[in-house]
Amino acid sequence: MTIKFNDENKEVFEYILDNIPDAITVVDTDLNTVFFNKTSEEYFDVKKEDIIGKDLRDVFPSSLLPKVIESEKSFFDIYNSPREKTYTIISAIPLYDKEGNLIGGLSRDRDITEYVKLSDVLSKTQNSLAELEKELSATVNMESYFSNIISNNAEFIKRINLCKNISRTPMNILLNGESGTGKELFSKAVHYESGRKGNFVAVNCSAIPEELFESELFGYEGGAFTGANKKGKPGKFEEANNGTLFLDEIGDMPVSLQPKILRILEDGYVTRIGSNKKIEIDVRIVSATNKNLKEAVNDGSFRKDLYYRLNTFQIGLIPLRERKEDIVLLANKFLQQICMENRMNIIEIPNEILAIFKRHSWEGNVRELRNIMQRCVLLAKESNNEKILVEFLPDYLQEINIEEEISIDYDSFSEGIEDYLEKIEKEIISKTLARFNYNKKKTAEHLRMPRSNLYYKIEKYGL
Ligand SMILES: Nc1ncnc2c1ncn2[C@@H]1O[C@H](COP(=O)(O)OP(=O)(O)OP(=O)(O)O)[C@@H](O)[C@H]1O
Ligand SMILES: [Mg+2]
Repeated sequence: MTIKFNDENKEVFEYILDNIPDAITVVDTDLNTVFFNKTSEEYFDVKKEDIIGKDLRDVFPSSLLPKVIESEKSFFDIYNSPREKTYTIISAIPLYDKEGNLIGGLSRDRDITEYVKLSDVLSKTQNSLAELEKELSATVNMESYFSNIISNNAEFIKRINLCKNISRTPMNILLNGESGTGKELFSKAVHYESGRKGNFVAVNCSAIPEELFESELFGYEGGAFTGANKKGKPGKFEEANNGTLFLDEIGDMPVSLQPKILRILEDGYVTRIGSNKKIEIDVRIVSATNKNLKEAVNDGSFRKDLYYRLNTFQIGLIPLRERKEDIVLLANKFLQQICMENRMNIIEIPNEILAIFKRHSWEGNVRELRNIMQRCVLLAKESNNEKILVEFLPDYLQEINIEEEISIDYDSFSEGIEDYLEKIEKEIISKTLARFNYNKKKTAEHLRMPRSNLYYKIEKYGL
């Protein structure tokens, strides 16, 4: 079957096809080329007169059109590289006349060389960006650990700076502080500030079962005990060689193990379980506890000699409730971080919320504050709010009534301090009673006083 045009419509057709920016080729059922537009000429570097009327396969042996004619199937968006560094997307379809007889086929090649080049550049850029980000985060993590630790409290700033200065010495450091005060943060900062080339290795002494402690810390030789890895395994001391070993929750270190740790620190070498070989190690120990280790020494649950060995320098991390000026500082820092992580504009922390924060006791310290900020930002995001609302806070914070603040006039203690204290006590009890709907059990619990004492005070103050 051939495609026939009269001269007039052929000219119109040619004009239209020549002005399409894609390469268009039309063949009849015998694969003779009927149309070959201008874009094709430029694109394939073949002149119309050299192809029209000729068998397409002579010029383009791998064209899709013979397949289209043979199978009467359409092909769409097939990726092709006809020449080196030239990329096209090809679609080809069979052509039918009004009666539905196959009369030929049409193919369209769209040049995507520029897109391919661009996407190449883009993926290279993305790769190098990823590399840079990796490098950046490595240097940021290493160089700014101490600058990550922020405070507005004069005493705490003093301790942060002292710790930073001690970091460069080989002294062992004992960090003392409640949960969430930043013991791990400090220990890493000490390591990166120390410039020690080895690894930072953390061991949580409260998380390791006593039987596994020795193999974890000292390592073992192949076949040392049943269930052991055949090849043997280095212990944490070896892993931290020339670096820092962070012994977290040191107060939970089994008493039986304490002399062994001490010996390693004094002798400067470890021997793996099942081996006699002495492995020399140089490890700096940073330990942390939320217990009073001195008391543990006094009651015999912690060895005195190890205590003094670990405690060449002690830093007490101040609880958040004792440095209230840091609450606003840290809340804002976390707010910024979390909003950025979530690709959000920075939202507002209204004063009302800050007032609640200042009155809270923060038993979970900085970690608790961070978690609460996380929760508030996510709830604000979900509800499209530009500020934090009281209802976003956990119940126990919502219960804090900021108006309960009792104002004290420090200038006129005309009544004497005893009377003043009674006045304050009366006010606290009466407000707490009101808050718990005069439920005496809840009030006593909240005020942490015996119920009998509460009854007595109610009577005394006539509440
Ligand atoms: N001064 C600070 N500045 C900025 N972030 C802090 C500060 N102190 C603590 N953080 C952050 O608070 C969280 C808790 O800190 P970290 O894990 O170091 O506490 P911890 O004392 O080891 O707690 P735990 O005893 O429960 O293990 C971390 O996200 C830490 O980055
Ligand atoms: Mg910790």
